[in-house]
Amino acid sequence: MSAMSDTSMNTNMHAAFKREIRRVQSGLAKADLADGAARDNLLRRYDFFSETLHHHHKGEDTYLFERVKPKADPSEVAVLDQMEAEHGELLEILTTVDTGFKSLSDATDKDVLNDQLDALFTVLSQHCEHEETQGIGIVQRYITQADMKEFMKFTRDAAQANLVLPWVCDGAEPAVSSQVWGMIPGPVRLFLKPTMTRKYDTFSQECGV
Ligand SMILES: [Fe+2]
Ligand SMILES: [Fe+2]
Repeated sequence: MSAMSDTSMNTNMHAAFKREIRRVQSGLAKADLADGAARDNLLRRYDFFSETLHHHHKGEDTYLFERVKPKADPSEVAVLDQMEAEHGELLEILTTVDTGFKSLSDATDKDVLNDQLDALFTVLSQHCEHEETQGIGIVQRYITQADMKEFMKFTRDAAQANLVLPWVCDGAEPAVSSQVWGMIPGPVRLFLKPTMTRKYDTFSQECGV
């Protein structure tokens, strides 16, 4: 049996990243960029998205793709190399969008930034589909319990990890929410789900996105 018996969290996070790009775009459209507080709130929301996406890719590169490569056959290694190359491509475009948000001002051209977010959405969507249909299956075949444990620890150690689970559920189907919260054992979930959801709701309200 695979040490990664369930790949749904990867798929559910991908869907959340794509929803979040659209959410940030609508936040950008309605924000008054002449207002410093509005800029800060939008940037706070964007930073959460960007940090979470950077962290997701770093975790996959470090603990998944690189760890299974020595065990994979040449055709599988080629797919894993493509995964890393696609992360590289995403890093480039994400860095462009990061720069755009870090320098938000009254003079920011919303259309340019919105187009960059569209481009990020397209490249991210292609990568996620490729990973879900080809990449993750190879990881699943070879990943060890020890590597999986390190990967999970890295995931939990993300700077704003306490927002991630309710965020993945935001806008998702009820079946996805059950899957996400179902990863936490019942008694712990009883306490964590309302606490984390409250924190996320406050974060969303404060950011206004
Ligand atoms: Fe992924
Ligand atoms: Fe990925």
